[in-house]
Amino acid sequence: MDKSSGASASNSASFGFRTIDAEQKPRLVQEVFRSVSSRYDIMNDAMSLGIHRLWKNALLDWLAPLDGRRFLDLAGGTGDVARGVLSRAPQAAAVVVVDLTEDMLAEGRRKSAGDRARKRIRWIVGDAQRLPFPDASFDCCTVSFGLRNFGSVGDSLAEIHRVLRTGGRLVVLEFSQVPNEGLQWLYDHYSFRVIPAMGRLIANDRESYQYLVESIRRFPDQDALAGLMTDCGYDRVSYRNLSMGIAALHSGWKL
Ligand SMILES: C[S@@+](CC[C@H](N)C(=O)[O-])C[C@H]1O[C@@H](n2cnc3c(N)ncnc32)[C@H](O)[C@@H]1O
Repeated sequence: MDKSSGASASNSASFGFRTIDAEQKPRLVQEVFRSVSSRYDIMNDAMSLGIHRLWKNALLDWLAPLDGRRFLDLAGGTGDVARGVLSRAPQAAAVVVVDLTEDMLAEGRRKSAGDRARKRIRWIVGDAQRLPFPDASFDCCTVSFGLRNFGSVGDSLAEIHRVLRTGGRLVVLEFSQVPNEGLQWLYDHYSFRVIPAMGRLIANDRESYQYLVESIRRFPDQDALAGLMTDCGYDRVSYRNLSMGIAALHSGWKL
């Protein structure tokens, strides 16, 4: 298993259970999210029974956003985390969402349109591996369910490190690995049998949700991701399991 889930020495990357040329991955991933964008939020609620909202709140609790700070929500999609940051830090100096898929950002802009504070969010199409910002542009970066989709997780973590100021912090929310075999069996059963079928029913797109569950299986476990963050230059790396490890939060600092 390619635990980096990104480009290796041979420039390969995983796309679900397939191994592909790393350069192909952004286009394939973009196609997945373009296809599901209009049903993305409804599917999140259906698949997780609403629990993704609690996980995102746990991310915000750990991040503890403060007024006056500059926030980057990378792979921010329809903007749940960015709106959460603004609701906790209404005087944030900047809240910027970067995402590869314009259609996801369009959904996010639409959801944020009614509220004056939310109108402060900047929505930018961009790739995690080539962020369109100078060094030290942000105090905090969040990545919620984005990392496993990146062409190279390592290169993206290094790029985030570049755009954080010294003293800045990265918090990642991502699916992870459950610690016990019985639970793993149940979770696999639900993931591989129920989720793709739900995708077909609700989003008329079985394949994209098959990709989703496969990409979760290919993603590094809690300790491996913490190790990768440390290798990419983050300090004081730590993690917290959510729902027994179905998801996990990782935090690291640029010191
Ligand atoms: C599962 S969604 C997560 C959206 C949102 N953060 C959330 O938690 O609901 C993954 C997002 O990652 C974006 N993405 C995938 N690869 C990316 C990349 N290389 N750079 C930036 N965004 C990327 C996709 O377009 C998609 O919107």
